[in-house]
Amino acid sequence: MRFNFDLQATDGRARTGVISTPRGDIRTPAFMPVGTAATVKAMLPGSVRQTGADILLGNTYHLMLRPTAERIERLGGLHKFMDWDRPILTDSGGFQVMSLAALRKLTEEGVSFKSHIDGSRHMLTPERSMEIQRLLGSDIVMCFDECPALPADRAAIEKSMHLSMRWAARSRDAFGDRPGHALFGIQQGGLEEDLRAQSAAALRDIEFDGYAVGGLAVGEGQEAMFGCLDYAPEQLPHEKPRYLMGVGKPDDIVGAVARGIDMMDCVLPSRSGRTGQVFTRRGVVNIKNARHADDPRPLDEHCTCPACRSYSRAYLHHVFRSQEIISSMLLTWHNLHYYQELMSDMRAAISQGTFVEWTAAFATERAQGDI
Ligand code: GUN
Ligand code: ZN
Repeated sequence: MRFNFDLQATDGRARTGVISTPRGDIRTPAFMPVGTAATVKAMLPGSVRQTGADILLGNTYHLMLRPTAERIERLGGLHKFMDWDRPILTDSGGFQVMSLAALRKLTEEGVSFKSHIDGSRHMLTPERSMEIQRLLGSDIVMCFDECPALPADRAAIEKSMHLSMRWAARSRDAFGDRPGHALFGIQQGGLEEDLRAQSAAALRDIEFDGYAVGGLAVGEGQEAMFGCLDYAPEQLPHEKPRYLMGVGKPDDIVGAVARGIDMMDCVLPSRSGRTGQVFTRRGVVNIKNARHADDPRPLDEHCTCPACRSYSRAYLHHVFRSQEIISSMLLTWHNLHYYQELMSDMRAAISQGTFVEWTAAFATERAQGDI
């Protein structure tokens, strides 16, 4: 069975469709929970599925260091290792090296670095990243790229983008022909429209199964990011999935979908679940706040997640303050449920041609603030 994207409906620039893979379908727009170290922290894989997730994201950088790609391959691959049998997309490592590793040295060949875990020396190249992602058994493999932190001057962004495009061609060659598995290119070029266009043209020439918009959500702010998304997705092929990497807050996600993005990932719902930040239709709630201590109401009376069905705000406040493990479990579940419901609502609105009305209602409800 082949990897395929079926674009089913559009509404303005927003799109809905289905990516089919041998491990199952991915309904788009899709949100991918982050399972960096072969786990979505505080969640069993079956629970992640119950929130509505069709696909998870894993990280080359973390897994190559611990427990290593070779060990995971010996144990039957990442899906079996972590007990998630649906699609997995893996990021290629370069972005995480730049934010996490020490003593990084960037050359034409790749990037050498010291592990943030034990200080051991490693090298990632396009070829090694493709090998690691193959050993893991990833369904959607990302090109090896470099993402400059913003703000950066135009010359630096241009040089980095050209390097990423040479690495994209090497990634394509090293990936080879793997039926049922997909390789995605990653557009770079910062906030420069002409560099984004050059990057898109280079990637289209190489030909990928999908195209990511990289290099955003790196400190530029929402207005600048939306400014870039007003042109970047349309520079990429219409008939292939478009993935915005590392985004974002609920309103970032809605704005990205409105601008033609099909897939996203972010640690925010899972990480916030562990720090007591809760996403609701009426905005962000901090469960640590003393105003919840005596509140018998659920977080969100319309939510059907276990945290909202069975527990009061008072209980969630208590277990968070007491640093009980169930606090991370319940709040992560709620946040992932909220994100997946957001995606499902957007898919329905795009199908029905009511996306503009839906986004207006989304904004109105958030403006009301918490109950
Ligand atoms: N995650 C967030 N942004 C990026 C990016 O530009 N490249 C890669 N590889 N991963 C990312
Ligand atoms: Zn809930």
